[in-house]
Amino acid sequence: MSSENLKYWEGTNFVTDPTWGDNGKGKVVDLMAQRAHLVVRTNGGSNAGHTVRNEYGEFKFHLMPSGIFNPSAICVISDTVVVNPTTLMEEIVSLRKAGIEVTNKNLLLSKNAHLVMPWHIKRDNLRETSRGSEQIGTTGRGIGPTYADRTERVGLRLGDLLKDNFIEIFEKELVFQEKLIGIMGASDNASYDKDKILEELFRIRDTLAPMITTVLPVIWEHHASKKRILGEAGQGVLLDLDRGGYPNVTSSHPGIAGFNLATGIPPKEVTRVIAVTKAYTTRVGAGPFPTELTDKFGDEIRVKGSEFGTTTGRPRRCGWLDIPALRHGLRVGGANSLALTKIDIFDSFPQVNICVGYRVDGREYLLAPRVDNDFLRKVEPVYETLPGWNKVTKEVKSFRNLPEAAQNFILRVQYLLKVPIELVSVGPDRESSIYI
Ligand code: IMP
Repeated sequence: MSSENLKYWEGTNFVTDPTWGDNGKGKVVDLMAQRAHLVVRTNGGSNAGHTVRNEYGEFKFHLMPSGIFNPSAICVISDTVVVNPTTLMEEIVSLRKAGIEVTNKNLLLSKNAHLVMPWHIKRDNLRETSRGSEQIGTTGRGIGPTYADRTERVGLRLGDLLKDNFIEIFEKELVFQEKLIGIMGASDNASYDKDKILEELFRIRDTLAPMITTVLPVIWEHHASKKRILGEAGQGVLLDLDRGGYPNVTSSHPGIAGFNLATGIPPKEVTRVIAVTKAYTTRVGAGPFPTELTDKFGDEIRVKGSEFGTTTGRPRRCGWLDIPALRHGLRVGGANSLALTKIDIFDSFPQVNICVGYRVDGREYLLAPRVDNDFLRKVEPVYETLPGWNKVTKEVKSFRNLPEAAQNFILRVQYLLKVPIELVSVGPDRESSIYI
């Protein structure tokens, strides 16, 4: 295992997720952010749900970088994030209520970040309905349509809120969006209460305005002066728009490419890319999932692991750890370090399976060569069974004090993935972390 401790990290580090999201990045970012100078959220929007539990309570963030609890770190929402202003405002209010200061000293918002507006949410839902049985199972948070507008170089951005002619820009956009939604065939209202939306935006603008700025120079200054920068991705690499299982993907880039787009920092200058994965696999939304368990083990993982979507509350699909998919995610995501979370969920399992290979059309794969739907649908997983440990691991503080069978499970995963495991998590609290 690696001798360098994640607790004392240096340089620029990036925390990503090698599979389908929901692997516990929030906890790892919160831990590492204690040492960060700058914490940058790199992609996605309020489709994400990052849970952080610490001395201030439990927080479920959709947009706020999980580093906000370090009073001396600056948190940044980058150009490539899409921002629902109401959600962001709610998160700021809940933090202030918990006694955490949120000002332009510790939160910077890119003026280039696109705004998720009510019409994006409507378009997301209209599209999903029109897909019938081919639904993607989006989070319904307007993410795809906002990124589509961004690609089309239209839509509102955070910086527009500061412009003298904002009302004019807003009205033009509203007229266009109402026409578009009319064409898409909305059965209910295709028109919006302009005054109500504007009133809400102005209310939010009063709080956000001091934080809206050009963030790239801040990121680069920190990078040039070798400050500790921590990137925080949303979603997971197998949901990457280009490298995931299209079309059952999100509309942004959760891996190292997304970090580069968000920060302008070249991948070769990133000291470490930490992939966070649970001891098992989950997926929400539609799309093939080779190791999915539809039996009592799947239910047990869901209940013990509280596997219900942070954003939508949907039950997550649960399955055994999938090494070929993980290896694909690690490669595409650019990961060279691993954090293994939720080991404790297996504490009472008599045995634990790991999918060590894929069998497809008579061939065996140790690394998924692709993760498109056609390929993944044909996979027959090859399992290896390891004995369970039947002991509570929650209070364990060091690797050598873990039950032997748990150690063997961790070492086996590391061996199969060929990436050092540097952190094992045995519970949601900061203290339930074993640095290796
Ligand atoms: P969208 O990002 O809402 O457009 O959803 C596209 C796909 O990505 C759906 O399958 C969602 O369930 C999935 N997805 C989006 N965000 C997350 C996340 O943060 N965790 C897990 N899955 C997500």
